[in-house]
Amino acid sequence: MNTDYKSLIKKSLKAIDNSYAPYSKFKVGAAILTAGNKIFSGSNIECASYSLTICAERVAAAKAISEGEINFKVLAISTNKNKIVYPCGACLQFLTEFSPDLKIILVKTEKEFEVHNLKDFLPKNFILKNFILKEIRNE
Ligand code: THU
Repeated sequence: MNTDYKSLIKKSLKAIDNSYAPYSKFKVGAAILTAGNKIFSGSNIECASYSLTICAERVAAAKAISEGEINFKVLAISTNKNKIVYPCGACLQFLTEFSPDLKIILVKTEKEFEVHNLKDFLPKNFILKNFILKEIRNE
């Protein structure tokens, strides 16, 4: 197996341990590989005011972005349910802002996983950057 995938999968599984999910008990771990070949992991963080919950994928991405790594190559997602989970629409939109060509590994176990592309899940995306750049260039 691709060594990048192997270590990402392991880190996403490990991140499940730090999930804070007292309400749903649905624990998610994510690990993201940046263009600079750094890996950042994240877990879901729930809140008593439920809508403030943050998904594991966005936690991992935010950690990377705030460390100056804004281009991503691969994201792995694991859960405590021994099942694959598809990323939510909010996470897809957030990730497409930075890396529309991202690969996404959906992990069931260390050896059972699927590889997809963000574009498979969000084929048409909303990217404001293109419009803003046009304004700056006066096009
Ligand atoms: N969750 C994630 O962390 N990632 C997903 O892709 C789907 C959902 C979390 C949010 C919440 O804490 C729990 O899973 C149940 O929805």
